[in-house]
Amino acid sequence: MHILHVVGARPNFMKAAPVLRALAARDAVRQTLVHTGQHYDSTMSGVFFQQLGMPEPDRNLEIGSGTHAHQTAAIMVAFEPVVLETKPDLVLVYGDVNSTVAAALVCSKLRIPVGHVEAGLRSRDRSMPEEINRLLTDQISDLLFTPSADGDENLLREGIAREKIHRVGNVMIDTLVRLLPRAIECFPSNLPSPYALVTLHRPSNVDDLPWLRNLLATLSDLSAQLNIIFPVHPRTRERLTELGITKAHAARLHLLEPLPYLEFLALQTRARFVITDSGGIQEETTFLGVPCLTIRENTERPITLTHGTNQLVGRDMQRLQEAAAEILRNDSVAAAPNPSRVPLWDGHAAERIADVILQQRSRAANHSLLRQSGGN
Ligand code: UD1
Repeated sequence: MHILHVVGARPNFMKAAPVLRALAARDAVRQTLVHTGQHYDSTMSGVFFQQLGMPEPDRNLEIGSGTHAHQTAAIMVAFEPVVLETKPDLVLVYGDVNSTVAAALVCSKLRIPVGHVEAGLRSRDRSMPEEINRLLTDQISDLLFTPSADGDENLLREGIAREKIHRVGNVMIDTLVRLLPRAIECFPSNLPSPYALVTLHRPSNVDDLPWLRNLLATLSDLSAQLNIIFPVHPRTRERLTELGITKAHAARLHLLEPLPYLEFLALQTRARFVITDSGGIQEETTFLGVPCLTIRENTERPITLTHGTNQLVGRDMQRLQEAAAEILRNDSVAAAPNPSRVPLWDGHAAERIADVILQQRSRAANHSLLRQSGGN
C-alpha cells in the first residue's frame, strides 16, 4: 500500500511524525512525504524535521508565502502532477492549514482517497482561515480521524457518514509523550525564572496593529510581576516591525526568535502559565497541566476548557491580568503531565490510525476478491 503524506506548516510536522513512524513499522506499506514549503525557514521547518526524527521530504514544492488564494492555488498546481506521477492509494493530510485543504481538494478531484488527521474540530468562527480549511477538508475526506468526541459530533451534525469517522485521539500528544524526556534535557539555560511563556500569531491578534500594540503593552505590564518569554512568530515579527517595535521596552519582557520543538516544549513544562492563541499549545498545556490563557473569543478545542487547563480571555485584558494574578496566588498545585486527563490523549493515536488504515485496506481487498469470485 502506498501512502502519501502532505505537510506544509509548523504544526503539521508534530502531527505527521508519529503517523509516519507507526506506518513504517507495518508490513507492506510504502510512504512518500511531500512538503509544500508553506513554511520554509529553518526555524519554522528544518529544525523540526531534525528534532522529530522525520525523514527528508521526498518532494518539496517550495511554495512559500503569499495571499491565501495564491498560496492555496500554487500548492494545488504543484501537487497535482506529484499525485498523478506517484499514484498513492491514500493521501493523509493534517490539521487545518492552507496546505491541508489544497492537497485534499486535488485528491478529491482525482478520486484518490484522503484521510484527514485531526478532523472534526470547529470554532464556529468563519472569520478564521483555519475554520474554512477544516470545514472544506472534512467534507471531501474519506477517512476522518478525530481527536475527541466533540469532533465526531460536529462531523455527524454536518452530515458526514458515521462509518467514515474514527476517533483515534491526539497525534500531537503522541509526539509530546515520546519527546518529553528529551525536551527536559534541552531546557534553555540562559533564560530567567520564574516566567510566563507567550506565543501569538493569529491574524485576528497580530494583523490588527492597534490591538497588537495594546497586547504588547499588557505584556509589558505583566512583566512587572514575572519574566515574560515570547518567541516571536515570523508573521508577528513583521507586524511588530511595521509598528516600529524591534525590541522590548520592558526589562523582563524577552522577545526571542521562534524556538525549536524541544526547547519550546521544555519551556512549557516549567512556565507558571502560558498566554497563547495557538490551537496546539492549548492541547499541550492541557496534557502538561500548565495553566493556559487563550487570547481568543472561541476555541475549536473545547475539551481543553472542560477537561484541561485552558481559559478563554478573549480581548479582555483586565480578565487576563486577573487570571494571571489568580494563578500566581494559587501556586500550590504543581503542573504534572497526565495521560488520562483527556480520553485517548495517551501517546498511541498514530498506532490507532495505522490500524484503521490497514483494516480498511484488508476489508477492501476481501470485498474485491469476493466480487471476482462472484460472491456477495
Ligand atoms: C500558518 C497557518 C496557521 C498555523 C501557523 C503555524 C494557514 C491559513 N495558517 O499561519 O494555521 O497555526 O501556520 O505557524 O495555513 N514566514 C516566514 N518564514 C516561514 C513561514 C512564514 O518568514 O518559514 C512569514 C511569511 O512572511 C508569511 C508569514 O510568516 O507571510 C505568515 O506565514 P503563512 O504560512 O502565510 O501563515 P502563518 O501565519 O504562519
